[in-house]
Amino acid sequence: MTTAESSHPMQKCKLVFLGDQSVGKTSLISRFIYDTFDSAYQATISIDFVPKTMYLPERTVRMYLWDAAGRDRYRYLITSYIRECALAIVVYDTTNRESFETTSKWIEEMLRERHGDVVIMLVGNKIDLIEKRQVTTDEGEEQANKYNVMFMETSAKGGYNVNHLFERMANALPPVE
Ligand code: GTP
Ligand code: MG
Repeated sequence: MTTAESSHPMQKCKLVFLGDQSVGKTSLISRFIYDTFDSAYQATISIDFVPKTMYLPERTVRMYLWDAAGRDRYRYLITSYIRECALAIVVYDTTNRESFETTSKWIEEMLRERHGDVVIMLVGNKIDLIEKRQVTTDEGEEQANKYNVMFMETSAKGGYNVNHLFERMANALPPVE
């Protein structure tokens, strides 16, 4: 075998995106998979997934990215999906304090519902909107430390830290036996 693609066994995993409405969950996925950004907001309905294979130096991971609607009325649906996910990204909007406060609820729900180990990343998105920022980096870090989860800040618009986010998630998976 000569290619990097064939040198590692394929690991499969499910990653769920959680967080309030309009924080940028769908935008982070679109930036990562298609390298595009749409400034027009279209709320996600229900929950759906996109597959993506990542070829990393250490491993090959087939990720199923579950994009959940932030709207309250779909929450009953999300609960049944998150049980199956080994990875979770809880997103808030750094320009919206309320969306940051609710991350406690999303993290606690993930910890409660998941059967088995889960890797959680707290993500503060929209950091390109410097003037509108309502949540500092220190506050984000503090919240992540409180729950012992990972933390990053991103901009789906500018692409800042987006690839890095997915690489960190893939690398946080336990190695294949
Ligand atoms: P729901 O599907 O309703 O749960 O929302 P969502 O979390 O998927 O948010 P979505 O990705 O649809 O983004 C909401 C709005 O924020 C859209 O208008 C996006 O263009 C905008 N947006 C998302 N990420 C960023 C970002 O990093 N910077 C800026 N400036 N705008 C962003
Ligand atoms: Mg969405």
